[in-house]
Amino acid sequence: MPTLIKSGTLVTADAVFESDLLIDGGKIAQIARKISTEGKKVVDAAGRLVLPGGVDAHVHLDLPMFGTVSSDDHYTGMKAAAFGGTTTVIDFVPQDKPSLKQSIDAWHAKADAKAAVDFAFHMNITRFNDQVAAEFPALEREGITSLKVFTAYNNRLRLGDAEIFKVMRIARDHGFLTLLHAENGDVIDLLVSEAVAAGNLAPIWHARTRPAWSEVEASLRGAALAAMAEAPLYLVHMNVAGEVDMLEYIRAQGLPVMGETCPQYLFFTEAHLERPDGAKWICSPPMRSLDDNLRLWEGLADGTLQTVATDHCPFFYDGTKEVTYEGKQIKIPGKELGQEDFTRIPNGLPGVGDRLLVLFTYGVAAGRLSLTQFVALTATNPAKIFGLYPRKGSLTVGSDADLAIWNIDRHYSNGVKVAKHRTDYNLYEGWELTARPERVFLRGRLIVDGERWLGKPGQGRFLKRKPGAEIL
Ligand code: URP
Ligand code: ZN
Ligand code: ZN
Repeated sequence: MPTLIKSGTLVTADAVFESDLLIDGGKIAQIARKISTEGKKVVDAAGRLVLPGGVDAHVHLDLPMFGTVSSDDHYTGMKAAAFGGTTTVIDFVPQDKPSLKQSIDAWHAKADAKAAVDFAFHMNITRFNDQVAAEFPALEREGITSLKVFTAYNNRLRLGDAEIFKVMRIARDHGFLTLLHAENGDVIDLLVSEAVAAGNLAPIWHARTRPAWSEVEASLRGAALAAMAEAPLYLVHMNVAGEVDMLEYIRAQGLPVMGETCPQYLFFTEAHLERPDGAKWICSPPMRSLDDNLRLWEGLADGTLQTVATDHCPFFYDGTKEVTYEGKQIKIPGKELGQEDFTRIPNGLPGVGDRLLVLFTYGVAAGRLSLTQFVALTATNPAKIFGLYPRKGSLTVGSDADLAIWNIDRHYSNGVKVAKHRTDYNLYEGWELTARPERVFLRGRLIVDGERWLGKPGQGRFLKRKPGAEIL
C-alpha cells in the first residue's frame, strides 16, 4: 500500500514548503499540496519537517588499524546512521589485496550482508604502478568512481606527488573524482620521532606533531597538482582556517576543487586532547583552535565548503571492558592501546549518528545555517558530487523514498544511548539538543520509528555509481 506523508514541511536544498508526499514502490511518487488519503497508509507530519535522508560521504566501517579494528561494522554503524537521519553512507575500500578487484570483493564480503542503509564505496589508492593504472577501467564496472589518495602516512598510505598527479590525470580521463587527505607526511614523521625521543607521549602531542600549516601546504599542493592535471579534486576532512582560505582562493580561480569538513572540527579544539581522556578526540587531522572552528562555519555558510561528512571511525575508549550491543557482549581493543604513547592510539572518532543532530541544533537552530543550507551540505551536495543525485539526497518525484521526519522542538541530551554507535563514549555526551528525526524511511520502508529499530542487516543496497558526476 502507498504511504502518504501528510501535511509536513518539506525541506530541500532550494526551498521550504508545506506539502503532502506520496511514497509508492520505494520511490517518491507525488509531491503536492493536498493528496487524497484514500487507499493509503497515512503518516501525520503536521508540525514536522520532512527532509531527504542524509548522505554521509565519509565513513570507515570495520576498518583494521593499529592492531585492532574500528568498532562499528557495516551493520552497527549504518544503524547508528539511520537513527541520526542518514540513509546513505560512502565507505572506503583499503587497497590491501594484490588487485583492486580483489580488494573491492573483500570489502563487499564484509559489507553486503550487514548493510543497514544504502551505501557506496570510494577506493583508496595507496600503492600505484602501471598495473594499478591498468585496473582503473575496472573500477567503473564496480560502480566506484572516486579515489582517495594521501600525502601523509609515509610508508603506509602515502603516494608521491608524481603518483598523485598521475592518479588525478587517469581519474580525469575516466570521469572519476580524486579525494585528498592533505597533511605533510615528511614533517609529521620528523616531529613524531622528535617527540617520542624527548618522551613527549601524551595525546596532545598527536596535534603538536601534525601542524596546521602542514595541511595548508598539502591542500594547496594537492589543488595545484589537480590544476596541472586538469582534474577535479575533493579535499576531505578540512579543519584549518588557512585551508578554507586556500580553497576560497583556488575556487576563485575557477578550479574544480571542493571541500568537506566534519562536525568535530566545528566544535572541538586542541585543548580537548589535553584532558585526562584526551585520547577520545584523537583523529587525523587533529582538532585545532576556536579561530579555525569559526572559519569553517563561515566557509559552510558562504559556500566555500560543499559538504559536512563525519570521517566516522570509532574505537572504544576502554576496549578492555565489555559493552552490551543488541543483547551480545562486545569487547574490541581501542584507545587504551596508546595509554602510554600517543603514536599507538587508534586514529578516529564516532560521529555518523551525531552529525545531523548536532549540526541542526548548533548550526540551524543557532542561526549559523539555514534549513536549505543544512540539507544541501548534508544530503544534496554529497549526493551530487558523488554521482548519487537525484536518486539520493533529494525530495523529487522518482527519487528513492529515503526521508526523515524531524521534530525540531524535541529537547534532550545527546550521548552514547542516543547516538547508538557501537562504542563506549560519545564526543557530545550531555550536549543539549533540540531536534531529532522521529521516523526514518529507506526506499519507502520505515526503519526507525522513534526509539524502535525496524531495520535489519542486509537491507542496505550497494549503489553503483557512474562517472562524470557534478562539480559544485
Ligand atoms: O583519524 C582518522 N580520520 N581516521 C580515519 C582515516 C582517515 O584518514 O580518514
Ligand atoms: Zn583521511
Ligand atoms: Zn577518513
